[in-house]
Amino acid sequence: MNVNDNVNLKPFHTFGIDMPCDTLIEATTIEDIAQAFQSMEWIRKPKLLLGKGSNVLFTEPYQGVVIVNHLQGKTLTEKEGHYHLNISGGEDWPSLVDWTLEQGIGGLENLALIPGCAGSAPIQNIGAYGVEFKDVCEYVDYLDLADFKVKRLSAAECCFSYRDSIFKQALYNKVVITAVGLVLSKEWCPNLSYGPLAAHKDLLNTPKSVSDLVCEIRRSKLPDPAVMGNAGSFFKNPIISHEHYQQLKIAHPEMSGYETEVGVKIAAGWLIDRCGLKGHQVGGAQVHPQQALVLVNTGTASAKDVLDLAWFIKQSVKTKYGVELEHEVRFFTATEESKLDVILQESER
Ligand code: FAD
Ligand code: EPU
Repeated sequence: MNVNDNVNLKPFHTFGIDMPCDTLIEATTIEDIAQAFQSMEWIRKPKLLLGKGSNVLFTEPYQGVVIVNHLQGKTLTEKEGHYHLNISGGEDWPSLVDWTLEQGIGGLENLALIPGCAGSAPIQNIGAYGVEFKDVCEYVDYLDLADFKVKRLSAAECCFSYRDSIFKQALYNKVVITAVGLVLSKEWCPNLSYGPLAAHKDLLNTPKSVSDLVCEIRRSKLPDPAVMGNAGSFFKNPIISHEHYQQLKIAHPEMSGYETEVGVKIAAGWLIDRCGLKGHQVGGAQVHPQQALVLVNTGTASAKDVLDLAWFIKQSVKTKYGVELEHEVRFFTATEESKLDVILQESER
């Protein structure tokens, strides 16, 4: 394992903002991760697991140990009807999708080009273009930080829902995901329910053709973090009550909503856009001019610029639509994870 003190986190997260941490450990084995948590050297320090840093914002210098997940390895086994994959947590998700397509295995094509590690995918149950991680998950392996044993949860036990799972709830801060198990049918069942895919249904007759279109749409809509720092959708799409949706629909008939088990999901990007905020800037942080749900670092953004812009958006949407936006991006202060309102309240004290 590689250990360094006083490291700039800029290359380790996709917002591209300079931010130091006390110690950075690059872990290549499960033993490295266990050692980072058990060693007397760091026992009292806060610790943070990091994959590719594509869903995080460091709001202050991190006064603890950042452990980067570099666990590598994939195995493929075939059984009647299905492929079973065991993927180590540090494997790159988009490369994994490409690899399965090269093997002629379908099932992950809708999830192409989502940045991050395979081991991070279950945490918020990554999703795009009609498919979520839960649809392909067989199990998740994790290191239990109470007894340092590796344990397994079935997909059902992970309690997956929209951008949520047991890893953000009951097992929050209690485990490190070490591997994921995927199960993919040998009989390809494309999911073309998402509008732009359905529109090209006739041309989408292989997993690769679906992946190519998904990548094309994503490249046209989402800024590339290598060019302009960002963490994908900044807020979650809010789920509101039927009553609230009906009220909004009367005032804004052009608004769309999608039925879920717990209410109606509406598009946060649409709400932000209709507040006239595309291109709106605070310091170096900007609402992306083409995709209102993505906040970008134009090159000079500080974490405070991003937080102030996020707060302005949240207030604007609340005032105009009565809808409370919740950030999808995870915020880390000097010692722990926190939320937008808490961080801003504390900074004003
Ligand atoms: P990180 O950002 O490194 O970590 C995320 C959180 O998980 C942190 O709280 C971290 O502490 C914790 N964590 C990381 N690894 C572990 C582990 N092994 N064990 C326990 N906790 C851990 N998401 C979608 O769902 N759909 C999309 O379409 C999508 N598009 C995106 C597009 C862009 C351009 C970007 C930048 C992001 C996008 N995202 C999307 C968000 C992001 O890709 C996912 O959240 C991804 O799963 C994050 O993976 P990561 O390895 O970068 O996690
Ligand atoms: N819209 C606008 N203006 C905008 C952006 C969007 O009016 O500036 C409208 C669109 O026209 C569309 C609706 O909002 O009617 C939804 O937009 P889109 O299909 O682009 O999806 P999204 O809600 O912006 C979600 C996910 C993405 C995922 C895509 C594709 C969330 C928070 N975001 O984005 O995930 O890739 O759908 O499935 O659920 C991420 O989580 O980081 C992420 C990028």
